[in-house]
Amino acid sequence: MNILLLGSGGREHAIAWKIIQSALCSKLYVAPGNAGTQGIAINLDFGDSDFDAIKSACIEYAIEMVVVGPETPLVKGIVDYFLDDNLLRQIPIIGPNKVAAQLEGSKDFSKKIMDDCHIPTAKYATFTNVNFEAGIEYLKTHSVPIVLKADGLAAGKGVLICATIEEAILEFTAMLQDHKFGDAGAKVVIEEFLQGIELSVFVVTDGTSYKLLPSAKDYKRIGVGDTGLNTGGMGAVSPVPFADATFLKKVENRVVGPLLHGLNQQGITYKGFLFVGLMNMNGEPYVIEFNCRLGDPETEVIVPRLKTDIVKVFQAVANTTVNELNIEIAEETAVTVFLVSGGYPEDYVKGKVITGFDQIQGSHLFHAGTTMHNQDVVTNGGRVLAITSLANTIDDAATLSKAAAEKIQYEGKYFRNDIGNDLI
Ligand SMILES: Nc1ncnc2c1ncn2[C@@H]1O[C@H](COP(=O)(O)OP(=O)(O)O)[C@@H](O)[C@H]1O
Ligand SMILES: [Mg+2]
Repeated sequence: MNILLLGSGGREHAIAWKIIQSALCSKLYVAPGNAGTQGIAINLDFGDSDFDAIKSACIEYAIEMVVVGPETPLVKGIVDYFLDDNLLRQIPIIGPNKVAAQLEGSKDFSKKIMDDCHIPTAKYATFTNVNFEAGIEYLKTHSVPIVLKADGLAAGKGVLICATIEEAILEFTAMLQDHKFGDAGAKVVIEEFLQGIELSVFVVTDGTSYKLLPSAKDYKRIGVGDTGLNTGGMGAVSPVPFADATFLKKVENRVVGPLLHGLNQQGITYKGFLFVGLMNMNGEPYVIEFNCRLGDPETEVIVPRLKTDIVKVFQAVANTTVNELNIEIAEETAVTVFLVSGGYPEDYVKGKVITGFDQIQGSHLFHAGTTMHNQDVVTNGGRVLAITSLANTIDDAATLSKAAAEKIQYEGKYFRNDIGNDLI
């Protein structure tokens, strides 16, 4: 079968790497992909949300399955676009439809459904310019810190944690009246602050049945010891030691089960991958957010542990046979260390030549912000390469990934050398 994968990050290189190991895949195309996917698949030169170009490619390359990596095309309705098109309708597309993707596309939608389903999450209220004054009053008596969230997609920048009421009022005003996050901030969710340790649990579902994929913890801050600015993710660990069988049962019974049931009751069929962002508060799971796809860098620790043929996972989603799916996971721990551009997440320079690939042995190297320039692989984004190693302990896996990270060279290279340390 010919498969088209949408996206261009480390997540997509990891998924592509897994897809081409399947006997079910004849040709793999990636749009737009990166220098890593170029080495193992055929990159197509259009964006992951260019629906018309996606349609043309499906026809031209006789695509028989489409896998959607990132959230943007899902929230924009790529799945509905396929279902509404006579030529595309018979091609299975892996991901939720537009309404179901609102779990990520609208924080307000997601909070409402959690409330409806009695899923443990932070207490909240939602405001727009219409009830702006009521929002200010609500903030004046709120406990601190106060969490403000732009309702829509804001590329990971739409959440502010305000230490004081004054700061929260300023930011709330900036979002609603000065359009700080554009349309994404036209609705603002005000939330209680939850204290605990964050982790994510991943689910694959056909809308009726679901199976758990491994848990993972990512490291969002740029600096060692979780300091400094937020990034797209500097590394990840899977599994998360404190997410034991008891904890995961709670996540299934209190979150995943009630959510799928609640969605079904509202006539919404969720198909694809679900990312459950959680706060572990003294052993009790509270939902921070849902995402409608796999995470990046979490995919880079999950996929290398997955023993099951990933194309069979996709087929089970498409055919509504997830109940029959056998998900096999390697016992080993995976640790990903992300190599980023100097200056990231602020300004950085692209186009730096990367060398040392032939030095990497025994670790997986997934490309993120890379591209080809003449015969060279060059940097093409803030997060450049993800290195994943597997071992019996977090410590050993992290040591392998860090040693590999030392062998890659480009001007301005930076990585965190403490990924996983907090879990050891
Ligand atoms: N209620 C909350 N209490 C404490 N921290 C929170 C809360 N909501 C979000 N956060 C923090 O902010 C980060 C971003 O929030 P999230 O809802 O995941 O939005 P997004 O990933 O879309 O930016 C979370 O990973 C978490 O660290
Ligand atoms: Mg998040």
